[in-house]
Amino acid sequence: MDSARRPLIGGNWKMHGDGAASISLACGLEDWSGAAELVVFPSMPYLATVADELAESAVEVGGQDVSDQVEGACTGQTSGSMLLDCGCTWTLVGHSERRHGSGENNALCSAKVDAALQAGLKVMLCVGETLEERDAGRALDVVREQFEQSLAGVDVLDCTRVAVAYEPVWAIGTGKTATPEDAQTMHQALREMAAGRYDAPSATGLRILYGGAVKPANAADLLACSDIDGALVGGASLEADSFLAIARAADSWTSSS
Ligand code: PGA
Repeated sequence: MDSARRPLIGGNWKMHGDGAASISLACGLEDWSGAAELVVFPSMPYLATVADELAESAVEVGGQDVSDQVEGACTGQTSGSMLLDCGCTWTLVGHSERRHGSGENNALCSAKVDAALQAGLKVMLCVGETLEERDAGRALDVVREQFEQSLAGVDVLDCTRVAVAYEPVWAIGTGKTATPEDAQTMHQALREMAAGRYDAPSATGLRILYGGAVKPANAADLLACSDIDGALVGGASLEADSFLAIARAADSWTSSS
């Protein structure tokens, strides 16, 4: 991490837990007062209750997905303004489980980014290559395409409202973390991509999170890399203790730097 950027730690709860479990997890986080900015992404039906629970806390809430449409006949979708209305300030866009599980392409991700920003949400754009793409030597090209095409409509990058999460698909939910060196290489490449498209302060200010099997045991090593500014955590965000231990890794690194 670079102390110029505030660490950002996201907890992606995916489709886990019920209402009671979501509230109890939120209760375990509400006293957070560390250096890192924290945001959790509960399942859609529990967004409003979790946001209510965390309203007086420093922890923000986001949607796991957002519609590219403002309103209308879009069965099953949730608009940016609906997320805001439920107390969300963030949304994920382009998580690999949506890109690969629900066939979302870069054009759709771009439309979602635009709709979310337009609605007033902050966006955490997820990018990352599959194992097949990495083995074929295409990781950088795939991530570049995802980054450039998903942000095609963003002409001016406001780093307080857009963050990027690099999540190699082969490391998500598999227990296989990218080495800090692998992750740093891609994060540095992403920052160079940002520098090629936006002005220097935006590229320097952009927060690039790593995601994929982040745990309390590996968080400090990942966060020590100069271009890793936080983590998007799946499995280890489902227990308040492990999520907070990851958040504190950012905290202690920041204060000792
Ligand atoms: P994981 O998931 O931490 O369980 O690997 C990360 C993610 O999908 O965001």
